[in-house]
Amino acid sequence: MLKGWPETDELKKMLLEQVSSFARAEIATKAKELDETARFPTEIVKKLGEMGLMGMMVPEQWGGAGMDAVSYAMAMEEVSAACASTGVIMSVNNSLVCAPLLAFGTDAQKAKYLVALAGGEKLGCFALSEPGYGSDPAGLKCHAAKVEGGYKINGTKNWITNGREADYCILFATLDASLRHKGICAFVVDTKLKGYQVAKLEHKLGICASSTAQLFFDDVFVPDECLLGKEGQGLKVALNTLDGGRIGIASQALGIARCALDASKQFALEREQFGAPIAKLQAIQFFIADMATRLQGARLLTWCAARNKDLGLGYTKEAAMAKLAAAEAAMWIATKAIQVHGGYGYTKDYVVERNFRDAKITEIYEGTSEIQRLVIASQELAG
Ligand code: CAA
Repeated sequence: MLKGWPETDELKKMLLEQVSSFARAEIATKAKELDETARFPTEIVKKLGEMGLMGMMVPEQWGGAGMDAVSYAMAMEEVSAACASTGVIMSVNNSLVCAPLLAFGTDAQKAKYLVALAGGEKLGCFALSEPGYGSDPAGLKCHAAKVEGGYKINGTKNWITNGREADYCILFATLDASLRHKGICAFVVDTKLKGYQVAKLEHKLGICASSTAQLFFDDVFVPDECLLGKEGQGLKVALNTLDGGRIGIASQALGIARCALDASKQFALEREQFGAPIAKLQAIQFFIADMATRLQGARLLTWCAARNKDLGLGYTKEAAMAKLAAAEAAMWIATKAIQVHGGYGYTKDYVVERNFRDAKITEIYEGTSEIQRLVIASQELAG
């Protein structure tokens, strides 16, 4: 059990070894089958919960493992190097569900929802995006009408990771869309409530073993005690949450990139052309050198953002830089990994083909690379 480990460098190393050996033995071995069959890895997610990895940064008092963000980034990289689908399931539950409950929830909400989510007994999803509102969530249209004792929710949410399996949903809806972000509220919603519907499941290019759902909210009655934070504070809850989420996705991208680099090194040492392993060719050596350098640069940015979070410093810009750098590194490294493999890399027999498909989403979800650049530029120019 990893729960309750104090934070020292020595113990971080032990955590890393434990997560890494679990990921290699129990996750990597199933990743190909999970990808090909688009099967949700129920048994792996259960084990991640038992290991304390589904609510890593939640204090033990609320059912979590009480670890820091750097440890979370390291564990996310290990899990995602084995299976990027499992990585995003873990990231959403940790960063987008447990984190806002911890930051904005009342003690009653923490007792009712967070303990089970952080302990891995329950799973969560985060429903912000809509068919017409992805990069611009301030304009969202899902409507929360104030009624006796609570709110009636009506609307559609898109691209919801874990939407099919989630027990609880962090939902964003507006009291009045004309108020833009000042009308938005966050709620914690039980997905068993009448009117919560999984309307559609997406067939995706990558991260095939995680579900991506369109959700309908059809007159869902949500009691007053499910309001998370204050009325009108919802966009702040969402954007603050996404700052932490971007550290998780950056770490997922690092894992994908590392898997592609490791596979490329192994292939280059084994594959012979012109009478010698292709690792002897300077062209291949330059690929490997650039892949390793981009990976390490992105990793340092990610750990820097996580460290800022742990120290209570601002990390909005740092998390955006980390996600931008890691996502673009993952895509670049996966592309070069296929090049190193030649025709073999274009087939499903080699892991780099999956890495290439999985890497792409990291440039899109939890804020596209273009949105990360906007966040970075606005902070830089604000002085
Ligand atoms: N933390 C907390 N509050 C913040 C914030 C932050 N990082 N950034 C801005 N805010 C607040 C502002 O202070 C402001 O509030 P006040 O008026 O009360 O001061 C309010 O939010 C609006 O600020 P802006 O006018 O600067 O925001 P904007 O509407 O121009 O949007 C944006 C800025 C960067 C474009 C932002 O909307 C954004 O990040 N968009 C991308 C959204 C995104 O990542 N979506 C992914 C959804 S999750 C997902 O991918 C699904 C999944 O399951 C994985």
